[in-house]
Amino acid sequence: MKSCWTWCIAGLMLLILSGIVLHRNFNTVKPVERVSPMTHFASCVDCHKAQTKDFLSAPHAQTLRRADLPSEWTHFVEQTAQIGVPKVEFRYWIERGRLWGSSEKTKSPSTVDWIFGSGHHGQTAVTLLTNGRGESVAIEHHVTWYVNHGLDRTIGRPIDLGRNSLEIGEENDPETTRRCFGCHATGLSAKAQRIDQQSFSHGIFCSRCHKEADHHVSNMRSGQTKTKFDDWHSLTPLQSVSRCGECHRLPTDLSPNELTPKNKNLPRFAAVGLMMSKCFQLQHTRPTATLRLDCMTCHDPHRPTETEPNHYNRSCCECHNRSSVSWGTCREQSLDADCISCHMPKQPSDSPTLFTDHWIRIRKSNP
Ligand code: HEC
Ligand code: HEC
Ligand code: HEC
Ligand code: HEC
Ligand code: HEC
Ligand code: HEC
Ligand code: HEC
Repeated sequence: MKSCWTWCIAGLMLLILSGIVLHRNFNTVKPVERVSPMTHFASCVDCHKAQTKDFLSAPHAQTLRRADLPSEWTHFVEQTAQIGVPKVEFRYWIERGRLWGSSEKTKSPSTVDWIFGSGHHGQTAVTLLTNGRGESVAIEHHVTWYVNHGLDRTIGRPIDLGRNSLEIGEENDPETTRRCFGCHATGLSAKAQRIDQQSFSHGIFCSRCHKEADHHVSNMRSGQTKTKFDDWHSLTPLQSVSRCGECHRLPTDLSPNELTPKNKNLPRFAAVGLMMSKCFQLQHTRPTATLRLDCMTCHDPHRPTETEPNHYNRSCCECHNRSSVSWGTCREQSLDADCISCHMPKQPSDSPTLFTDHWIRIRKSNP
């Protein structure tokens, strides 16, 4: 009897402890983590055809490239842009096998070392320097290439380019530099002071989202097919969205007065928008509900983004239909209407590219 109690108490402690560990995992996910190269894409291909088949053509896999290949330069080569007020001209060209950029105000030209962004929305050129303490600092160029538009001012840069107008871009401190690469790469060492291009994968690969994938690979290879692994289905919607929000931003990354529909930058932060929606916040209020609302209700992170509106409209109607578990239906429209065009429209931000406003809500003026 006594040993039973000891076991019960030990079990309870374990539960509490694992609760704390889980809580930790999902609330303080570090933007940069360590993964062994073994876990990268190549090892997953053998066993997971469905998830790897289209993965390389999706933006996650292409969001960061070294700028030493001509194939990466196409959006910048021989391009000029006049940006800011007063206008400053920027120019990109090839010399000695590298891509260079300068403005009419910079003292000397800079090589482009990295291209950030898949090009699905935009691409920003980055020059990487080493400071006196041997740490990497990223110079994020003032100019960004936007799809269907060409070169223009980088998002978030002041119109007058501020105190930085004499430079090709804005210098980030070492910590911010590490965070930039942390959100656009896989397997970057958490302690890396220097961005060493050899030691991590450029882009977001399997092991960036599936933690401890290296253990899984060795378990599976040694025939232990029942060993539990990173199972997103067992997460609550809040835990799940928080993991995507590690990069797609969380409400806690913003100040309370920025969390308003008036904030024009919010549509860039998909996870913040979704978490502000009543659909997300009140999804548990109908106990008989079967559909859960997290990013995977609408997106498959292993494939390029679906562009057919009905793919998304269908998921709205799974909850907003006329059945007994219904959460209300649209008084304005029938069930075959294009829900997202009114409730999740594409919105302009501080840039020539549009972002989908993930804050699902009733809007006063419909587009
Ligand atoms: C040797 C074959 C093998 C390799 C290599 C492998 N897996 Fe798996 N994986 C499996 C099998 C088998 C399952 C199903 C296990 C089960 O049903 O419990 C699985 C399940 C999974 C799951 C689902 C877990 C769950 O509980 O839902 C994920 C995610 C996953 N693998 C990711 C990866 C990633 C990422 C890689 C590459 C780093 C990888 N796998 C490499 C065989 C493999
Ligand atoms: C390590 C950081 C990181 C994590 C974690 C992450 N993303 Fe992303 N995601 C990005 C970046 C960076 C881009 C921009 C890709 C580009 O350059 O176009 C992106 C782009 C996307 C896109 C847009 C693709 C397009 O067609 O433009 C979708 C959809 C997306 N992510 C969904 C998700 C979902 C769902 C999750 C969670 C399962 C997730 N992301 C987790 C960093 C991340
Ligand atoms: C907290 C994670 C995070 C950090 C830090 C971060 N990014 Fe991103 N980045 C994203 C996500 C998520 C996207 C896709 C959604 C979006 O566009 O905002 C993205 C998209 C981009 C794009 C594609 C254009 C676009 O807006 O879709 C570029 C270019 C880019 N980032 C450059 C940078 C550079 C340069 C830095 C560092 C100065 C940086 N990012 C830091 C997460 C991050
Ligand atoms: C942006 C984050 C992200 C990336 C990158 C990613 N996955 Fe996943 N993966 C997920 C999520 C989220 C789920 C759960 C899917 C769901 O809820 O429907 C998942 C599920 C899986 C599953 C289980 C399938 C199932 O039906 O549950 C496997 C296997 C898997 N991923 C393998 C991979 C492999 C292999 C790669 C690299 C090619 C990869 N993943 C890259 C986020 C990611
Ligand atoms: C998982 C179920 C679920 C999904 C999927 C879902 N919703 Fe909802 N939605 C809800 C719940 C729950 C509420 C809150 C109802 C209430 O106030 O009691 C809600 C509320 C709303 C509201 C009113 C919001 C407000 O601020 O008053 C609108 C509009 C809406 N949903 C539209 C949509 C659209 C459009 C989609 C698809 C893009 C969608 N919903 C997907 C569950 C869902
Ligand atoms: C109710 C459906 C729905 C959910 C849930 C959803 N998205 Fe989206 N998302 C969309 C639609 C619609 C688009 C626009 C697709 C297109 O390009 O036509 C989109 C596009 C995106 C893009 C591309 C950039 C943009 O703004 O157009 C990113 C990044 C993204 N989603 C991230 C996420 C993340 C991260 C989550 C979870 C926090 C999420 N989405 C949840 C419907 C959804
Ligand atoms: C032409 C724009 C438009 C389209 C398309 C549209 N809606 Fe609406 N929706 C509205 C407006 C406006 C309201 C507010 C109506 C009111 O308060 O009387 C609303 C209200 C709602 C509500 C809140 C109902 C309530 O009682 O609180 C839900 C849920 C909703 N819509 C879901 C949907 C779904 C699901 C679709 C797609 C099948 C859709 N809407 C298509 C404009 C639209």
